[in-house]
Formats: sequence, C-alpha cells, structure tokens
Amino acid sequence: MGATALKPDPAAIAEAARVLRAGGLVAFPTETVYGLGADATDGRAVARLFEAKRRPAFNPLIVHVAGIEAARELVAWTERAETLARRFWPGPLSLVLPRRPGCPVSMLAGSGLPTLAVRAPRGRTAEALLAETGRPVAAPSANAAGAVSPTCARHVLDALGDAVDLVLDDGPCAIGIESTVVDLNGGIARLLRPGGTPAEDIEALIGKLAEPGSSDAPRAPGQLASHYATSLPLRIDAAGAGPGEALLSFGPEAPPGAAAERNLSPGGDPVEAAANLFAALHELDRSGCAAIVAMPVPEDGLGRAIMDRLRRAAAPRP
Ligand code: TXA
Ligand code: MG
Repeated sequence: MGATALKPDPAAIAEAARVLRAGGLVAFPTETVYGLGADATDGRAVARLFEAKRRPAFNPLIVHVAGIEAARELVAWTERAETLARRFWPGPLSLVLPRRPGCPVSMLAGSGLPTLAVRAPRGRTAEALLAETGRPVAAPSANAAGAVSPTCARHVLDALGDAVDLVLDDGPCAIGIESTVVDLNGGIARLLRPGGTPAEDIEALIGKLAEPGSSDAPRAPGQLASHYATSLPLRIDAAGAGPGEALLSFGPEAPPGAAAERNLSPGGDPVEAAANLFAALHELDRSGCAAIVAMPVPEDGLGRAIMDRLRRAAAPRP
C-alpha cells in the first residue's frame, strides 16, 4: 500500500522531477527534515499537498529554490537577503520577502499573502531534485499537520504513505530540525521560527532580530501554540519521569528509572540533540508508556529551536 521509497540515484531523481512537473507529490530529504514537495507554480498540485497533510490553508508553505538566482525571480530581493543567503544558502534558513509582480508561484502556496518564504535547501538529493525539476518546489515538512516532523523515510511512509506519489529515501536528515524563518518584509527583521540556523549567527550579520508575535507579524504554524504534537501527552519537567512514563533525556545526568528512555545527546551537544529530536519523539510515542517527559535543553544555538519544538509539543491540544 502507498508510495514506494526509492534510493536517490539519477534515475530516481529524474523520475521524481517528472512526477513533480506532472503535478504529483514527492517526499524528499533535506538537511533539516523530509519535505512533501509539489510544483509551486501548479495550483492544483499545491491544493493536493494541503489536502494530503490536512493542513489549514491559512498556513503558507516554504518555496524551495536552487539558489539566489532562482529566488530573485520570485521575490523582491534586498541587500539583507543577499547577505544572509550568501552566508547560509544552501542551508536551513527561510527568508520571507514580498512577492514580485508576475511571480509564478500559486497564490495558494503563500496562503494568499503578499509575501513568500523562500529557501535553498542543502543536501545532495534536495539539490539534485531542484536542479532537475527546474521549478520552485513548495514543501512543508512531510507529516500530518500539527504532528511530529519526519527525519527519515519511514516516518513519511507511516504518516502519509497513501497520499504521496513517490518518496526519495536518503537516510536520516543531518540537522533534524526545521529551517529558521526570518521575516525581512519590513524595517526590522523578525525571527518567525527558531531553527537550524542559530539566531545568534544571523544577528552577527544583520543585527538584532525582533521577536515574533507582535500584531503585524504574519501568522506562522510554527507560531501556533500546539504543534509537533505526539500522540502521548508530553511535559517538560526537570525532575524526571514518574512510574510508567517515558523519558526524553539530555546530557550525562539523566535521572534513572524511566519506563523507556531516549537520550538526545549523552554528551550534552545541542547539535546532536537536534538531529535526534524528532526520531526520539516518534520512538517514545510508540513505547506504550502513559506519557513522555522531556528534560530541558540549554537555550543557546540549536537549543533554542529544540525548546521551541518541545514547548509546542507540550502545549494544550486544540
Ligand atoms: O526546514 C524546513 O523549513 C522544512 C523543509 C521541508 O524545508 N519545511 C518546513 O515547512 O518546515 P513547514 O510548512 O512545516 O513550515 C513553514 C513555516 C511555517 O512556520 C510558515 O508559517 C512559515 O514557514 N511561512 C511560510 N510562508 C510564510 C510567509 N509568507 N510569512 C510568514 N511565515 C511563512
Ligand atoms: Mg511542519
């Protein structure tokens, strides 16, 4: 049942590009998480994508491009965009900028907003697929809306198998947490979602980023209180797991006695922890325990993105 997963050899990349150009849905690995891709210029393909994820249409998609030149064709490029893209692309940074007049991306992909988020992802499969497709590719994380993000092909097949035409399987994602989203559409640059590019590294180039959440900020699903939700209840609690509870631990001093445990990084490395986060949540979610308890991770570098995801996973469900 459902889609087949192919190793991303040249024949599979060519087939995936053909499926995309024909209006199909292709799940593919990026350096952050697996994305569910559709031709961003094809409104019907983008509509299928929203349907497959059961994603509310007010949540705009990130448009993936091969690089700066391709991005400039879609959005009104700025000096700050150039500075950031030169430093961080291809890589885990999405830039929100005004659509250019005549921009071919479907209005649905951007949820009707006058802006678009664009990013050039890193990784041999994503880069080859974008080059071969020759079109901008809209791709949210390849999970059901609101659920834990996929960092390997198995997660995609389990969550969306029937709704996807083809899955490219290139093993686990290197970074494991989604791209940082920065809104450059206005005077002050704003951090809409902490992610794989540390905010400190961005601020070193363009100055202080404003926090999301002021009234003029566009609505981002990464900003919804409940997101990345496990099936089991999850709480963030330094004291550790109670009887029958699973522990998502971090560092060398995890309290013993949990019914199940995954340590994000026994050595306390936030980069390693980010790479393991979503796979560990998927596994603990199936542990048969009553709940998941997460130890806190220090909030600098990627730790900020990790705690952002854990807080939203722990938030009361709608
Ligand atoms: O790492 C990633 O970014 C992954 C991989 C597949 O590239 N994609 C991803 O997509 O995380 P998604 O759809 O799960 O998250 C897209 C984020 C959301 O927070 C969305 O609201 C924000 O980008 N976004 C997209 N377009 C926007 C816009 N025009 N204005 C503000 N936020 C926008
Ligand atoms: Mg997502």
